[in-house]
Amino acid sequence: MPPTESPTLLIVYHSATGGTAQMAQAACAGAQKADGLRVRLLRAQQAHPADLLAAQGYLFAMPENLAAIAGLMKDFFDRCYYPVLGQIEARPYALLVCAGSDGSNAVRQAERIATGWRLRKVAESRIVCTHAQTPEAILAPKTIAAADLRACAEIGEALGQGLVMGLF
Ligand SMILES: Cc1cc2nc3c(=O)[nH]c(=O)nc-3n(C[C@H](O)[C@H](O)[C@H](O)COP(=O)(O)O)c2cc1C
Repeated sequence: MPPTESPTLLIVYHSATGGTAQMAQAACAGAQKADGLRVRLLRAQQAHPADLLAAQGYLFAMPENLAAIAGLMKDFFDRCYYPVLGQIEARPYALLVCAGSDGSNAVRQAERIATGWRLRKVAESRIVCTHAQTPEAILAPKTIAAADLRACAEIGEALGQGLVMGLF
């Protein structure tokens, strides 16, 4: 990136019942506080290798489904992994996971993918638990608590400010 150009933070997310979408939007709002940062918020299905190559930092947000990264987010990683391998090394990233009761396996899987890309983790991966455990609760629209949204916004802001200040 030429030194005069604004850095770009790419946020990629998937969400079926709205929880992760709220988290990603909060992170986006936090990142937008960083002056001179370009923030792109893309659904996993809209995100392609060129989007990864064109950004200087990443925030990946996803639900945990069946003890794994939710399928459409996994599809994004599957589609993009080899096309960008070796071209995005050392760029900073953070992870947000929305889960009904656990979330740890999705974090583990996504961190492993990021390690494969040789990305640099710059914030603790954040799991937000919705406590949805019955089929009815799992399929219902989610409302993420304000404190959790603030935490997502702080991660977005830290990532954004760090990119603008050239800290990473
Ligand atoms: C098919 C399916 C499987 C799920 N499996 C898990 C799971 O393994 N662990 C967990 O913590 N939550 C699980 N959940 C709950 C979701 O992670 C939770 O509802 C989350 O809020 C979904 O995020 P979203 O609102 O962005 O779609 C599952 C939900 C669905 C629909």
